[in-house]
Order: sequence, then structure tokens, then C-alpha cells
Amino acid sequence: MLGTRIVTRIAAVGALWGFAAQPLPALAQSSPGSPVRLEVHASQAGPNINRDIFGQFAEHLGSGIYGGIWVGPNSPIPNVRGIRKDVVGALRAIRVPNVRWPGGCFGDNYHWRNGIGPRSKRPATLNPDWGSVIEPNSFGTEEYFDFLDQVGAEAFISENVGSGTAQEAADWFEYMTSKLPTTLAKERAANGHPSPYKIKYLGLGNENWGCGGAMSADHYVEEMKRFARYTRNYNPKQQSGTETMKRIAVGWDSGNSDYTDAVMRAWKDKVWSWDIEGVSLHGYTIPNSWEKKGPSVGFGESEYAKAIQATLKMKDWIAHQSAIMDKYDPDKKVGLYVDEWGIWTDPDPGSNPGFLQQQNTLRDGIIAALNLNLFMRNADRIRGANIAQMVNVLQAMILTDGPKMVLTPTYHVYHMYVPFHDAAEVPVSFDAGTYSYGDIRLPQVDAAAARDRSGKLWLSLVNVDPTRPARIATSIEGVTSQGASGLIMTAPAVDAHNTSSRPNDVVPRAFEGRASGGQLLFDLPPKSVAVLEVR
Ligand code: AHR
Repeated sequence: MLGTRIVTRIAAVGALWGFAAQPLPALAQSSPGSPVRLEVHASQAGPNINRDIFGQFAEHLGSGIYGGIWVGPNSPIPNVRGIRKDVVGALRAIRVPNVRWPGGCFGDNYHWRNGIGPRSKRPATLNPDWGSVIEPNSFGTEEYFDFLDQVGAEAFISENVGSGTAQEAADWFEYMTSKLPTTLAKERAANGHPSPYKIKYLGLGNENWGCGGAMSADHYVEEMKRFARYTRNYNPKQQSGTETMKRIAVGWDSGNSDYTDAVMRAWKDKVWSWDIEGVSLHGYTIPNSWEKKGPSVGFGESEYAKAIQATLKMKDWIAHQSAIMDKYDPDKKVGLYVDEWGIWTDPDPGSNPGFLQQQNTLRDGIIAALNLNLFMRNADRIRGANIAQMVNVLQAMILTDGPKMVLTPTYHVYHMYVPFHDAAEVPVSFDAGTYSYGDIRLPQVDAAAARDRSGKLWLSLVNVDPTRPARIATSIEGVTSQGASGLIMTAPAVDAHNTSSRPNDVVPRAFEGRASGGQLLFDLPPKSVAVLEVR
């Protein structure tokens, strides 16, 4: 009887995410220490978890676009108008909300006219930042929007403030968004798209303290105001209400620059002619040092602990940025957008170092979950985040090799977190316990909670400790729970990963929490990420 109930619940869990989850095999593990207490304040409604927190980033870098998304219409790899079918299918399943494009540092060099019109006539240019290779410009404006349509995602265009002009940016946006038949709008129609494109986000430059022109904060603010003023969205459907385009200025560099302070100060004193709705934060997880980042696979517990320690710096970065923003904007009108983040390791041996190609392991799935939980717990200020990068680059969802495609542990975390898209954050408090390795002391457990639009309560739980399980004793305010069902991802080693010959070494499995004495008990195996619906 009990067995039948579990099998039925496992089938129901599979239906939630759109696949049949297999149960977690019994794992040999030591017994958990004293339980971690988790309080879920289910009667308090927190802010909306903007689904854009689960955004992606696709730069013209290595095989992030060419090979990873774009193979061209004549490729033997199955495609729709040149865009890989397998990659689109996988991205649809994780409900990608938006894709930031064309860069990154590439965006600081991008001249949009090179990427429109008949592909055979487009110029071959250079990609000096990333491997010094030829940029064929085959993937340009029309291909980007076609890709978004196929995936079901919205546009986030990062415009060129570094080497472009405000006029060039203004023309591009007129080309993309004008419904009135201007010469530029007619050119768009001739290129196959008579109706205006919708653009949700405009990035006002990229890292202009670095690859975007090494500008001082004050100089950037003057440039940013001009670009914010003249880059207009003419799409009639985006002129008012929630549909208006949101403009995101460049913020802190995760080092010492004071961009966020300068931008927010200018915003507070702004005149009617310009505005912004967001400030960006770029923050990468570097396990060791910038020069010697550490391998993406084949590492042991020492590298693992250092990487987890490094990723937890995001908490301080967000607190620091939020404090600056609160000073000028206590009502939280301007959002914080973590529009580049993820783990950055040494490149795969033998790959072009400029292509930033790295393997993706269980460790990276845990890093994704820790950061997503943090973004969700700070949803009052964080309105968006874009992991770097979607396909084949840095902390990728998907790795391709010719016709082969592999879904990474990070992809599976994004899949597991779909129920949190646009859910209402529910505050949690917990005593995280401690995971120690050598001199490193870290919180062992992490958690977040949210209520989706149909009223279901969801929990995400992480056990960072690679050797010790964690028992989590959960009290849910005002709820007598019958149990919880969902998915868990773990594997025998922290550097376990998927390959085309072993695509399912790290995948989510069915997982349950049981009700006991008015609480919910979860026995999380070591190094695991779980997402569960509370019944
Ligand atoms: O994501 C790779 C690079 O990292 C981006 O191009 C740049 O913006 C950042 O420094």
C-alpha cells in the first residue's frame, strides 16, 4: 500500500516538471548530526520572485552562438531556419524568461548593421576579445529574435556604449521597434519582419569600467544619460504600463569601482529627459585566483570548498549594492540586475583559452542553487539575473559537440526551479549548521520558499556538505503538512558530470519529505539540491 502511494506520488512529481523522475537509489551515507531547524513563515507574503531572475546570457564568444545555437539552415544538424532544434527544445523546458545578447565585452564592439540583411552579404569582422576569431555576423538581429520566438523568451539587448555612438544605438532601436514606416522600419520589413519587435530590457552598456572603455564612474554616467535619453523604444505596445522597456545601467564591478553610487546619485537628481529602472551587478565565482582559477573537473574537496566559499561572496556583494541603492532609493523603484554571474574556471585543456569552455559538475549545480536561493530571498530588490552563459561558455546549461548535446547539472537546477518563476517569496529562517574543511567554515544548509500562483507552497533545500547528510526539521507556520514531494539532485562525487556517453550521471530523482509530529522531516544526502512541493 505504502509502495503504491509512493509510486503514485513520484508519477505526480514527474508530471509537474514534464518528465518521469526515477527514485533516488539508496546511498551509503553516514547518519546526519542534529537536525537543522527550518521555519517557513508561510503566513507572510513576500515580494514577487521575478521570473527574470532565471534569465540567460548568450554572447558571441567561443561556441556560445556559433555551433551552440546557430548552425545555419544548410547544416545536417536538425534546425529551424538555422537554429538548433535540440537546444531550443531543451531551453523551452526550463522556460527561459529572457536572453541577454550580444555581449558582454563583445557587445562593447558590436555594430548592428553588420548583422542585418542577406547573410551572404554580411561582412566578416573580428572578435578581438574572444579568441581573435572571425565573426561571420550570420547571427544578427533577425536571427536573435527568431531564436527568442522559438524558445519563448524575451529580449534583453545590451547596447554598445563602449565603441558605438548614441546615434547608432538610436537607429538600431528605431529599426527594431518602429511601427511607423520610417526608412529603418521599412528596412526591417524588407529583412523579413514587418511588425516591430518587443524589447523588454535595454542594457546601457557593459562593464564600461573595464572592456567597455575603462571609463571613470562620472564619465560613464554622462554617457549613460545620453544613451538612456536617445535609445527609444517605439513599439506602440510598449508605451505604457508593465510592458514598457526597462533600462539597466552598468553598476559595480565586484571590485572597487563606485559605479552604483554614481549612477544612483545621478538617478536621484535626474531631470525628466532620462530614466533607468535597473542597475547591474556582475559577480563571478572564481575558485582560486583570477590567474589560476582552478579546473572545472577532476578536483577534490579542497577545490570544492574554496568554490563554495567563493560563491557565497555574492551575499556580501548584494548586501553592499542594496545598501547603496537604499540610500538613494528607499522605495526600491530601481531594481538590481545580476546580469552576469556564475562559476569561471580554467578552460578545458586543449580548447582555445579565449572560448571560456569549461565542464559543468554537481558542484556547479549546487552553486547555481545557492545563488538562485539568494536572489529569491532578496526579491524585493533583485528583479533579474542572467547566468553566464547559456550554451558552451562558462557555467553553461547546455554543452554541444557537433550534433551531440548534453544537459548539465546547472541545467537540471534551472529545470527544478521552474515552480519558483513569478511565485511569491515566503520568508524562511534557519540555523544553517556548519560544513568545515580545513580552515574553511561554511553554512551547511541553505533554503528558500515561495508560494506559486495556484497557492502551492514550494521549498528549495541545499546540503553543501560533501560527506555528511543533513536532517532538516521544518515547521510551516499555520500549516499541518501531510508531507512533501519533489526532486533531488546528487551524485557520488562533487565533480560528477554528464557527457554524451553518460548523459544521466547527474540528473534529478524523485524525493520525499515526511510529516512527523507536526513537522516535515527531510533527510538530504550529502552534496544535494532538492525542490519540493509541500502537501
Ligand atoms: O562572460 C564573459 C565576460 O565576462 C563578458 O564578456 C564580460 O562582460 C565579463 O567580464
